[in-house]
Amino acid sequence: MSGGDLDRATVAKAYARWAPVYDLVFGGVFERGRKAAIAAAERIGGRILEVGVGTGISLPDYARSNRLVGVDISEPMLRKAHERVADLELTNVDALAVMDAERLGFADGSFDVVVAQYVITTVPDPEATLDEFARVTRCGGEIVLVNHIGAETGLRRAFEEWFAPMARRLGWRPEFPFERLRAWVERSPGLCVVERRPVPPLGHFSLIRFGKDDRDSGDGPRRPEHGRAQVSQEGRRHGAA
Ligand SMILES: C[S@@+](CC[C@H](N)C(=O)[O-])C[C@H]1O[C@@H](n2cnc3c(N)ncnc32)[C@H](O)[C@@H]1O
Repeated sequence: MSGGDLDRATVAKAYARWAPVYDLVFGGVFERGRKAAIAAAERIGGRILEVGVGTGISLPDYARSNRLVGVDISEPMLRKAHERVADLELTNVDALAVMDAERLGFADGSFDVVVAQYVITTVPDPEATLDEFARVTRCGGEIVLVNHIGAETGLRRAFEEWFAPMARRLGWRPEFPFERLRAWVERSPGLCVVERRPVPPLGHFSLIRFGKDDRDSGDGPRRPEHGRAQVSQEGRRHGAA
């Protein structure tokens, strides 16, 4: 069920166009979901990777005790994030890097939590991207998603299918049933759904937490030391700061 239906170049182009007005258009509407995702991530805390960090709109809302790394495929979105980090002196942001969610340049188990807010429906292959999130999450850690989840049936589903071609040009896919996430987790050893609940507005968005089992890790959960995230050679090539 992997989709090759949304391509990276179109998405990067779309978010280059969104960058100057993104916070104005999506700042308010996505705010409750963002806050819910941050609260969920902070239950574990520590070293947190935000994938698709965009303009960095969520970064000031994390407690300063967390160490943050943000990555995004869109350089213009990330430029805004850099400005925000400098303006607000967010010293707990260790790195911002242009990077593809599907090929993260970090070692296995580098993060306590991976957060992706309104991102999983914007990547060409959501399942491969989730595999990558799971790889860089430590055993005992969590993946926290907040996203629009497509309707399974009815009028909303019909609308989402009708709207899909236009939405792709704007940079996302509106038809994304929870079934895809369920199928992914079922075939992913050591992962489970910890929580799934709706978040405002409109009941079209959900917070979903996946837990990564720590039973397989030999001598207990691997907790990477807090501090600067390990950025691999690939991450450096992609411009990790
Ligand atoms: C809808 S925006 C969400 C931004 C931010 N997380 C928020 O809550 O407002 C989706 C973000 O995902 C980024 N993105 C899309 N595809 C990506 C990919 N393959 N790798 C990394 N980031 C990606 C986009 O550039 C954009 O910044």
